Amino acid sequence: MEGSFLRVLNRARLFLSLHILMICFMHKGYPYGVEGKITSHTTSVSSLLPSSCLPSTSKASTRKSTLEVIHKRGPCSPLAQDPNPLNHTEILLRDESRVKWIQSQSSNGSDGLKASAAVSLPAKAGFMAQDYVVTIGLGTPTKHLTLEIDTGSPLTWTQCKPCKSCYPQSEPIFNPSRSLSYANISCHSTSCPHFGTSECAGSTCLYHILYGDQSSSAGFFATEKLTITPTEVINNFKFGCGENNGGFTGGSAGLIGLSNDKISIVEQTAAKYGKYFSYCLPSSTSSRGHLTFGKDDRAVSSVRFTPLSMVSSQFYGIRILGITLGGKRLPIPSTVFSGRAAVIDSGTTITLLPPTAYSALRTAFRNKMAKYKMAPALTPFDTCYDFSKESKITVPSIIFSFAGGVDVDLDPNGIFYSEKASQVCLAFVANRADSDLVIYGNVQQKTFEVVYDVAGRKLGFGPNGCS
Ligand SMILES: *[C@@H]1O[C@H](CO)[C@@H](O)[C@H](O)[C@H]1NC(C)=O
Ligand SMILES: *[C@@H]1O[C@H](CO)[C@@H](O)[C@H](O)[C@H]1NC(C)=O
Repeated sequence: MEGSFLRVLNRARLFLSLHILMICFMHKGYPYGVEGKITSHTTSVSSLLPSSCLPSTSKASTRKSTLEVIHKRGPCSPLAQDPNPLNHTEILLRDESRVKWIQSQSSNGSDGLKASAAVSLPAKAGFMAQDYVVTIGLGTPTKHLTLEIDTGSPLTWTQCKPCKSCYPQSEPIFNPSRSLSYANISCHSTSCPHFGTSECAGSTCLYHILYGDQSSSAGFFATEKLTITPTEVINNFKFGCGENNGGFTGGSAGLIGLSNDKISIVEQTAAKYGKYFSYCLPSSTSSRGHLTFGKDDRAVSSVRFTPLSMVSSQFYGIRILGITLGGKRLPIPSTVFSGRAAVIDSGTTITLLPPTAYSALRTAFRNKMAKYKMAPALTPFDTCYDFSKESKITVPSIIFSFAGGVDVDLDPNGIFYSEKASQVCLAFVANRADSDLVIYGNVQQKTFEVVYDVAGRKLGFGPNGCS
């Protein structure tokens, strides 16, 4: 009796010490600074580079209203690989025009949460540099369509038959005449938004959306059955059935608009999901993240929230207070970030910082990275490293502090833009002037559960949302 009790006790102790050992081990790659903040991350160089598609490990896959989020151009993408893929320069050029467009849209923007009912579709909305896609079901019987996710666009649309002009897409183009649940919206319906250059074809409501790079989609504004997952179905979902679409590459079937607007999926599903969604963008093109509609209490415990505002009624805005690198707050005058909110965007790749902030970040980063060999600049990046001779690297931590006491310690994959091991670059760019709108891009959001509580006017970041 006594013996077995002792054995149990010993096993408990062994478990305890293993546990302590594990904690020590886990902390090994994450030294803490004087302020208790993590000062560096040690990571393998291979984890920064693309590889073949890894099996899904997303813990969100058990949530009922969850879609897998995949990098459009990566090995996990359901889209056929483009025979003429965009090269690095073209991708970043598209990124730049999206940025210019967001900045021009919001140059006169108000910074309060505007009543969404008063918002109509702008003539120019969104820009197609989106990097991430999800696959949804549309119609009866259900057809699977892979759409780009965009927090900066209101309208969800897909290419539709009969095409007057459609760009090449991987999946068969949606045919409304083969779907039992498709219906045109009447021109006289209050649902017909009468936006931009739209008009009516007889009594049928039309839409026409022109994006910042002159790409566009036009067709019927209609309702259809949207299947998020087999158990999560939205009937009479309003979407654009586009017969005239141009200027898009990459083979996706269209776009899913996640901005706060009466025609966005967020607003249309408000009764079901409470204007609450979250996503996790995977660390690399070889892994998968997720997009979840509605609140998942299991996921919310480790999420920290910062106030959410709307910038120019269309973009989600959050306030950056400062940046800490390697455990030390960067010497950025408080006035640099204290203006209006920064836009957080799923479709802009690289974070744009005020030049004063970027310069402080670059100086401190280069100092901490002095032992590594530098590589030539890769426009627009001016701080690149040659890691081809390294297997592991130690990177100073970069922590963004947001209003409300929220600290976000970037994943190493959220610090670098990696073309190849011999040219891995600090993934931030300076705006032209400190007064230009700051955009918090999708590279920096990688692996975080990013929670949009639009009704509660707060945005959350939770670590380890996906790998
Ligand atoms: C609006 O934009 C114009 C130029 O585009 C600028 O001169 C003006 O100051 C802006 N107004 C506000 C309130 O930002
Ligand atoms: C939708 O409207 C167009 C144009 O009026 C028409 O050709 C099409 O048949 C309509 N579809 C349905 C399902 O009513």
